[in-house]
Amino acid sequence: MTPQDQALHDRVTASFAARFGHAPDLVVRAPGRVNLIGEHTDYNDGFVLPCAIGPATMVAVSKRHDNNVEVVVADFGDARDQFNLELPLERNIEQPWADYVRGMMSGVQNAGYALSGANIAIAGNLPKGAGLSSSASLEVAVGKANLALADIAIDNTRLAQIAHRAECDFVGTQCGIMDQLISAQGKAGHALLIDCRSLGLTDVPVPDDVAIMIVHSGVTRGLVDGHYNARRRQCEAAATAMGVPALRDADLDMLEAAGLDPVTKKRARHVITENQRTLDSADALAKSDLATLGMLMAQSHASMRDDFEITVPPVDALVVMLQKAIGTQGGARMTGGGFGGACVAVMPSAMVADVQAAIAAEYRTPEGNAPIIMVERPGPGVAIL
Ligand code: GLA
Repeated sequence: MTPQDQALHDRVTASFAARFGHAPDLVVRAPGRVNLIGEHTDYNDGFVLPCAIGPATMVAVSKRHDNNVEVVVADFGDARDQFNLELPLERNIEQPWADYVRGMMSGVQNAGYALSGANIAIAGNLPKGAGLSSSASLEVAVGKANLALADIAIDNTRLAQIAHRAECDFVGTQCGIMDQLISAQGKAGHALLIDCRSLGLTDVPVPDDVAIMIVHSGVTRGLVDGHYNARRRQCEAAATAMGVPALRDADLDMLEAAGLDPVTKKRARHVITENQRTLDSADALAKSDLATLGMLMAQSHASMRDDFEITVPPVDALVVMLQKAIGTQGGARMTGGGFGGACVAVMPSAMVADVQAAIAAEYRTPEGNAPIIMVERPGPGVAIL
């Protein structure tokens, strides 16, 4: 276990013991993720290239002999939730984190797997609101842990599909499947090229001497804010106008011929061009061609800024600083759903210290603080510890 995981494990088991007075039956870890490229392409049946990272959510569980579920979260001052699996589950408006637990437990049951009551403790070390999928990792960890308690083994892609449905149907964000799928299926040392239509996964090795840097802009974001669902509706409208099932099936000639209004056209152009950039990036990364990857990442950021319009000025400024520090030896872009959150940069490991120093000196969050900087290598997906 890494020291980071050990500290998280200590925290979640201590919280469990303090609340329930005994040790858990098992602990599950599900990672957050960073998306290297392929933004807002997943719900358009397109391609994404994320990898799992070190920061994660851990869930400690033990079986109960009734149908009650008791939850404690170490991260929010030992906040609690409780519900009964036999009663219809409703959202817990006061504690948004609880909805991911409720949504996942009911999603697993609706998928036909019978769960027992459980005592649950949760702890995570993913920065919230950074766009690094703390919520997807929570869903995946809760699902895996409770299925394991019931002695049910399911395929991790199936687990991700259930988690994805929980987020769409229970929490109400019409997201794609990327975050849940990479948290469930991540592979150490690799990014995954995901075909979001077939759910086919292609391992793309990240060369040993390449580092992934994540810098949180300090602008926090909320998916449920409406912008996200609005972008999704625009993409669907564009696909319908072009007579294709999804933007995955459209190309730039079709877009030119479609006569869309200027805004819808820009949204669709982002998705169509981003799909190709994602495929090209997987090739470049596998060949250690960081110059090409960097160029594609720069184009991706410009497309998110100008066509999809999901970046904010502090994020644009941070990306410029990263690009300047990295030059042609790698690249940088915003990662995740947008409207704040984190930027991702790819570079030779030998450059990390200099880039980190440059960003720490130059960038300030809107509150005036130095940014959180993480240096990562791709880690594994969900696991029972
Ligand atoms: C969020 C969603 C994902 C994906 C990204 C944008 O992270 O949860 O499904 O759409 O935004 O690429």
